[in-house]
Amino acid sequence: MSVTIKTQEEIEKMRVAGRLGSEVLDYITPFVKPGVSTGELDKLCHDYMVDVQGSIPAPLNYAPPGHAPYPKSICTSVNHQVCHGVPGDRVLKNGDVVNLDITVIKDGWHGDTSRMFMVGDVSIQAKRLIQVTYEAMWLGISKVKSGAFLGDIGHAIQKFAESHGCSVVREFCGHGIGAKFHEDPQVLHYGKAGTGLKLESGMIFTVEPMINAGRKDIRQLGDGWTIVTKDHSLSAQWEHTVLVTDSGYEVLTISAGSPPPPEITQKTS
Ligand code: MF3
Ligand code: CO
Ligand code: CO
Repeated sequence: MSVTIKTQEEIEKMRVAGRLGSEVLDYITPFVKPGVSTGELDKLCHDYMVDVQGSIPAPLNYAPPGHAPYPKSICTSVNHQVCHGVPGDRVLKNGDVVNLDITVIKDGWHGDTSRMFMVGDVSIQAKRLIQVTYEAMWLGISKVKSGAFLGDIGHAIQKFAESHGCSVVREFCGHGIGAKFHEDPQVLHYGKAGTGLKLESGMIFTVEPMINAGRKDIRQLGDGWTIVTKDHSLSAQWEHTVLVTDSGYEVLTISAGSPPPPEITQKTS
């Protein structure tokens, strides 16, 4: 495993890419309404990245080993879709929940972030799953600090999610990110505190838990990309790109429209 430590110049470029990724989510927010198709959301985001930001949508034609090139510019995962939902003709309707996952490349550096959106009025159960997942992500992020361990992050997320009767998807994890979309280390969203890689200032990785209302098991659809829960239970995900610092962490994927950190993780220092 080779985990890169970013230089100050590289960190500055990652700050820009991170903010741009988050600003795509700000931009698309008012369009996420009943009646819009996931393909329309993809097109709007694509054009905003390319024409307004001068950034490159990293997912487009992305082809990790064992996968056909990803055909779209963002991921749109609806209801029981866990991640990597491929935009298309599906029209969002009142009561749906959808994760929009954006990765931009700017000046050669990646910013990767996702949020959950509620379409019209959604069930109490869906709201609760979205909130539990949001707090789980931030609890994981709040463990990040030079000298802490990767296992601290996964442990905090798993403990919180399971204590709320939810389950943690095992097959997908956070990842190092920089000049490459996915690099070492793998950031598991479950595990044991005090285990795994020791964090060092200058590491940058994502924290992106996928939390299911039902069982943790998943399967892949015939399109070769979309992941769904086996039991068809709802799934939620949030994602930030995070820099390790001596005093803790800096979340790079923040912009004017980012929801604030939850109260349970408000920094006291
Ligand atoms: N953005 C996703 C992540 O958080 C990866 C999407 S890969 C794609 O790692 F090809 F599906 F876009
Ligand atoms: Co990611
Ligand atoms: Co992502």
